[in-house]
Amino acid sequence: MKRSTVKELLTSTETNRDVRLKGWVRTRRGNNQVAFIAVNDGTIIHSIQVVADLGSFPEETMKRVTTGSSISVTGKLVESMGKGQSVEIQATEIEILGDCDPEEYPLQKKGHSFEFLRENAHLRFRTNTFGAVFRIRHALAFAIHKYYNDKGFFNLHTPIITASDAEGAGAMFKVTTLDLDGAPKNEEGGIDFTQDFFGRPTNLTVSGQLEGELGATALSSIYTFGPTFRAENSNTPRHVAEFWMVEPEMAFYDIHDNMDLAEDFLQYLIQYTLEHCQDDLEFLNKMVDKGLLERLRFVMDNPFERKTYTEAVDILMKSGKKFEFPVHWGLDLQSEHERYLVEQHFKRPVILTDYPRDIKAFYMKQNDDGKTVRAMDVLFPQIGEIIGGSQREERMENLLERMREMNIPEDELWWYLETRKFGTVEHSGFGLGFDRLIMFITGMSNIRDVIPFPRTPKSADF
Ligand code: 4AD
Ligand code: MG
Repeated sequence: MKRSTVKELLTSTETNRDVRLKGWVRTRRGNNQVAFIAVNDGTIIHSIQVVADLGSFPEETMKRVTTGSSISVTGKLVESMGKGQSVEIQATEIEILGDCDPEEYPLQKKGHSFEFLRENAHLRFRTNTFGAVFRIRHALAFAIHKYYNDKGFFNLHTPIITASDAEGAGAMFKVTTLDLDGAPKNEEGGIDFTQDFFGRPTNLTVSGQLEGELGATALSSIYTFGPTFRAENSNTPRHVAEFWMVEPEMAFYDIHDNMDLAEDFLQYLIQYTLEHCQDDLEFLNKMVDKGLLERLRFVMDNPFERKTYTEAVDILMKSGKKFEFPVHWGLDLQSEHERYLVEQHFKRPVILTDYPRDIKAFYMKQNDDGKTVRAMDVLFPQIGEIIGGSQREERMENLLERMREMNIPEDELWWYLETRKFGTVEHSGFGLGFDRLIMFITGMSNIRDVIPFPRTPKSADF
C-alpha cells in the first residue's frame, strides 16, 4: 500500500479506509491495554494519533515505540472519539523502521530552550517550532519567485565568487586556493595573486546588485535571490555572516516607483503566508509570540509611512528619549532608533529616504542639495531595517566623481561604468534581507533560529 502523509490523512474526509503512514514518534501515552502514539512526518504541524491495542502486537515491538523512533503503521483511518483531532488510525500493523534510544535522544522533553536547540540544530527540525519556521521559510521562497514571475521580472543568477566589492564595505571573505603558509610573493612583497586560481584576488559576494544592474539595463526588470556573505564581526540577533537576499533591479524606475514596489512586495508576502501557512502561524502565535498575527495583519492593512532621514533625525532628537547611541544629522541610524520610529512614533512600517551621502554606497543617485542621496530603507517593527535600496546614479560624471572621492577603483568596475556610457537610463532597486523577513513573519527573535544552519562569528557547525 502506498504511504499517505500526515497532512493528507488529517485533511481527508474519507474515513473507514485502510491507510499506511510513516513518520517519527513524538509522544506515547496510554495504559497497559492501549497505546496512543502521536506520529509526525513534518508535512504539517499536527501529529496524527495512532491507537494500538497492546494485545494485538508483540511486546518486543511495542517496547521500541519510543519518542524519536521511526515507524510504519498500517491501519484504518477512523473518526476520532478523542478531543483535539478529527481522525486517527486504528493500527493493525506496526513496523519499527529505526530505533531511538531514549537514554541518548536529546529531544525527549517538551519546551527545550532555543539555545539548546541551536546546539542541536541537526535535530531541531523535528520540533514543532522549527518545523513551522522552515515550512514558512519554504513558502516564502516560493512566493518570492511567484511574485516576480507574475510581474514579468526575470530571475538573474549573479555570481557568488566575485572580484568586486559591491557595497564598498570591505567586510568580505577571501576566496583562494593559495596555500596560506607558503603563498607566493610578488616583487612588492605582497601576495602574488596572479598565481591564484582566478589569477586575481576574489571574494564571496556581499550583494548581487552591480551585476543585477547589468541585467536590468537590458531586460528591464530582474531580481536575484541567493546567498550573500559579510565578514562583519557583529554579534547581534539580526546579523549573520551568510544570509539570503532578494534584489530586484528595475530600469525606468525612480525612487517612488521603487518604494511602491517594496511596499507592495512585502504586503504580498505577508498576505501569502496568512493564506498558505495558517496552521504554522497559529502555532507560532500561540507558543512563540502572542502578538504575531495581529502584527502581520497590521502591516497588511496600513500604508507605510514615508519620511526623509532628515525628518527622522528631527523626530528622534525631539523625542526626549535616551538612546544608547547618539543621534545627529550625518550619523547612521542604529536599530534602537529605527525601532523607536516604527514602534513608538509612527506605529507602522516606515520608509526613510534621502540619507546623507557620506554614510551610503557610491552608486546612489545624488540629490541637488549636494548632501544627500536617493537612498531608501524600509524599517519594520521588531526588526529595524529589513530592506535597503536606492535610485541609482545614472549620470556618468556624477558617478565617477563619487567613486574618486571614495577611492573606488574605476578600472576594476569598467564593466559597471559601461552601463552609464552606453544608453544609460534612470533605474532603481533594493535588497530584502530574506532571513530578517522570516524573523518578522514567524515572530522568532533571533536570526539564528530562522536559518537551518546559521553562520556567525566563531560558529560554523554542521
Ligand atoms: O542594506 P544592504 O547592505 O543593501 C545592499 O546590499 C544593496 N546592494 C541592496 C540593493 O540595493 N540591491 O542589505 C540589504 C538588506 C538589509 O536591509 C538587511 O535586511 C539584510 O540585507 N542584511 C543582513 N541580514 C542578515 N545579516 C546581515 N549581516 C545583513 N546585512 C544586511
Ligand atoms: Mg542597509
